[in-house]
Amino acid sequence: MIYFDNAATTKIFPEVLDHLKSWAEEFYANPNAVYSDGQKSRRSIDEARRYIASFLEVDEEEIIFTSCATESNNTIIRGIAESYPEKNEIIISPIEHKSVLNPVKYLARKGFKIKFLKVDKNGVVDLDDLKSKITEKTAFVGVIHVNNEIGVVQDIDSIGKICMDKDIIFFSDTVQSFCKFNIPSNLVDFYSVSGHKINAPKGIGFFKRRKDLDITPLLFGGGQEFGIRSGTENVLFIKALYETIKIWQKNKAQFVARLKNLKELFIKELKNIISEVHIVSENVETSPNIVTVIFPKIDAQTVIMALNSEGIAVSSGSACSSGTPTPSHVLLACGYSEEEALRAVRFSFGIENSEEEIFITVEKIRDIFSRLSVFY
Ligand SMILES: Cc1ncc(COP(=O)(O)O)c(C=O)c1O
Repeated sequence: MIYFDNAATTKIFPEVLDHLKSWAEEFYANPNAVYSDGQKSRRSIDEARRYIASFLEVDEEEIIFTSCATESNNTIIRGIAESYPEKNEIIISPIEHKSVLNPVKYLARKGFKIKFLKVDKNGVVDLDDLKSKITEKTAFVGVIHVNNEIGVVQDIDSIGKICMDKDIIFFSDTVQSFCKFNIPSNLVDFYSVSGHKINAPKGIGFFKRRKDLDITPLLFGGGQEFGIRSGTENVLFIKALYETIKIWQKNKAQFVARLKNLKELFIKELKNIISEVHIVSENVETSPNIVTVIFPKIDAQTVIMALNSEGIAVSSGSACSSGTPTPSHVLLACGYSEEEALRAVRFSFGIENSEEEIFITVEKIRDIFSRLSVFY
């Protein structure tokens, strides 16, 4: 299978996969135990935390390991809301991931007022609108760094400065930007990361917090992770995440250039065969590996199924529950019509993809369109 759905998840780096069994054997003991094997597991977690904290330029207590970004986002959002009950307004972008939107909607049902920021056709947040929406009642501002559907990059430095000037908490979902972009830790109070988007296993993540800000835990128990996230630590996957991040850090420039090259090649080749394709967020800064294409006439589900039958895996932002696809909330927020949104297909590239796979895919798209166009 040609796998072009790396924004959904990535394959584990072979260098990491090869070691999982031996690490599981080496770090089997509970890191909270006092005997020496327990302490060995503890040291493994400490080493990972030290490394991550150091390259993000934060204190070690500011890194909280969790099971995934959904858990991180829920902990941050609900944790801030509960810690500062006098603040009952939340400002977020309308193009957040569901793991941000849904806990915020939950808080809306509990009485919070939600203010959605204006975005333009490319998905870029309007900073003047942000300034005008902040009040002394704002609990936090939440803006996703790199959008998982359209890849648009937000200016989190400027957003962070606006929030800092007004003494408002700024939270960013940095799941799709982590390792590919720099995250200004001094300007973003809370941010979330997921292992499986950067070639580590699924089921591990962390968030960065600001240690002088309160956050009520979602999980109470044994008091692990500085009392913010109880539960026995996933020693094996913390080790795997740490080793994966080291690989990214060592090869960052080369990896990013490689992804960018694949994406640019794909767009160029695609436009050569179908001139009417529309590339979402084409004229603004986007992630090096995510591109959403609105194809002419043919709906996304048909294109995705046709590509699947050719052995090519891609996806769309539309949810398909009960058989009827619902258009992506991200594209609707950018001002696309429902009909356009239902024609949007996301291609997201990974480190192991090749130029040859791009040429094969574009060729298959050409075949699919010449076959299907007789019906449209
Ligand atoms: C931007 C973004 N935020 C959050 C998540 C949720 O991540 P996880 O699968 O680790 O819960 C995803 C993954 O789909 C994502 O792309």
